[in-house]
Amino acid sequence: MNHNPLDKHAPQPVVTVLKVAHLAIKNNNYLVVDPVTRDALLIDPAWQPDTIGAALADAGGRLRGILLTHAHPDHVHLARPLSEQHRCPVWMSAREVAASGFQAERLIAFDAAPWQAGSLRVEPLPTPGHTPGCVCYRIGSHLFTGDVLFNEGCGICPDLDAAYAMYDSLELLKASVAPHTRIYPGHTYLAPPGLTFASVLERNLYLQFRDRESFAAYRLRPGQDPRKLFDFR
Ligand SMILES: [Fe+2]
Repeated sequence: MNHNPLDKHAPQPVVTVLKVAHLAIKNNNYLVVDPVTRDALLIDPAWQPDTIGAALADAGGRLRGILLTHAHPDHVHLARPLSEQHRCPVWMSAREVAASGFQAERLIAFDAAPWQAGSLRVEPLPTPGHTPGCVCYRIGSHLFTGDVLFNEGCGICPDLDAAYAMYDSLELLKASVAPHTRIYPGHTYLAPPGLTFASVLERNLYLQFRDRESFAAYRLRPGQDPRKLFDFR
C-alpha cells in the first residue's frame, strides 16, 4: 500500500504518552508512530530507557529520529544513547544548539523549515522564552510543546527579555495553531496531556494577557515559591 504523507486524508500519527521520572522530576515523553509505515519519532526522551524501548517495540515502530524541544537536562537525557542505539538523527534548533552547546554525533541543527522524518512530516515552530531556542513541533494535528506551553501555564522565563519573548511565542501559537490540535506538554500537573488547543486556551491564564508588559509582570511576579514552580494557581 502506498502512503503519501502529504495526503490530508492520510491516517493521523498515533501518539503514545510515556510518563517517566527521576526522583522528583516527572516528564512526559512522547512516541509518535505513523500507523501505516510504522515510522516513529521520540520527543525529549529521558530517564527510563526500558519504558521507551518497550513502547517502541509494542508499536512495532522503526525509530527515524529524536526531536528535542530544548536543551534542559530533563529533556535531552537519553537523546545521545538512543540515537546511537538506533542510528538515527537528533534534531534541535540551531539557536538552541548555539545557546546551550549541546552536542551529539548525529545532531541536526535546523532553522525553521519543515522536514520529512521517514513518512512523518515535522514542522518546527520557533517559540523562544523558556530558553533562547525552544521550539514546538507540529506533526499532523498534534503539537508537542516542551516547556513552552503547559495545560495550566507556561515555562519559567529567566528574565524580562525572556518573558517578552515568551509572550510573543504564545501569541504565535494562538495565531497559528488550530483549535482541534492536540497539545502535548513536556510536563503535566492537573489535566492530562492531549487536550485540544481550544481547551487549553480556555483554562490557561497565561494565554489571556493582551500585552507584553502585563504578561511579563505576571510571569515574573515576586513571591513565587521555588518549591512550587509549576503550581500555576
Ligand atoms: Fe526546561
